Amino acid sequence: MSMIPFDERDGTIWFDGAMVPWREAKIHVLSHGLHYGSSVFEGERAYGGRIFKSREHSERLRRSAQLLDFEIPFSVDEIEAAKALVLKTSGLQDAYLRPVAWRGSEMMGVAAQKNTIHLAIAAWEWPSYFDPATKMKGIRLDIADYRRPDPRTAPSTSKAAGLYMICTISKHRAENKGYADALMLDWEDNVAECTGANVFFVKDGVLHTPQADRFLNGLTRQTVIELARRRGIEVIERRIRPEEMTGFSECFITGSAAEVTPVAEIGPYRFTPAALTKTLMDDYLAEVQPRAVAA
Ligand SMILES: Cc1ncc(COP(=O)(O)O)c(C=O)c1O
Repeated sequence: MSMIPFDERDGTIWFDGAMVPWREAKIHVLSHGLHYGSSVFEGERAYGGRIFKSREHSERLRRSAQLLDFEIPFSVDEIEAAKALVLKTSGLQDAYLRPVAWRGSEMMGVAAQKNTIHLAIAAWEWPSYFDPATKMKGIRLDIADYRRPDPRTAPSTSKAAGLYMICTISKHRAENKGYADALMLDWEDNVAECTGANVFFVKDGVLHTPQADRFLNGLTRQTVIELARRRGIEVIERRIRPEEMTGFSECFITGSAAEVTPVAEIGPYRFTPAALTKTLMDDYLAEVQPRAVAA
């Protein structure tokens, strides 16, 4: 991936309804979204010129904002049209899309009822890992100190920027120790999710995954559950205690960016990525490809 800073690239960004040159897509330092974390975003991938589950992402973006008590001034259809325009203008077939919405500058205190809501959408190249041989070795995960917040503490199911504060700290700590990422527990010490992906385990041919009622119910997670059930694989959504990881043979994480990524280690626990993980990796990559519409 290119190391050019994200504010020094060429291209066009959709910004509040207009296409603006990439380097000019700026906001003022006195923006509520920056000071008080009133910002929500999406992370989506396009494959072969089609954004996978695009509409679901746009709907989730609007829902994330509503959970933070603001309304994005663009409908799902308008967001869909904007994303399609951004993708087309980028000239990319395979791309990562980043819509972000935030409160502007009219009020600069905790209360911000009158603030204008802004929306921007950018697309860039972010190749997925195509080398299945390396990928099948699995990544190594630390176990984070921070817990995913109790829904009474924060709008846990929103894809809100503020919820990523502890994810960035946890990921930094993990990377400092040589891990790829960190697994986060919930506030009751059940297995929850990674800093930007959901998690699945395999035991005796059955998939086990934490119930997504207290963290982001990823669209990739939902897709993988559907793909598994389509194959007759049983999927159990439940509370999972960390000690149970001793008894799981395979583990993988899912996310729009991570897709299906095998895991070899979580703290003291070891897994061997095998057939079920491979099957779902392949099924996922087949599912995201745009299908030719039958005449
Ligand atoms: C904290 C967190 N959990 C889960 C996910 C997976 O969500 P999705 O599959 O919709 O990308 C993401 C990525 O968006 C995330 O940031």
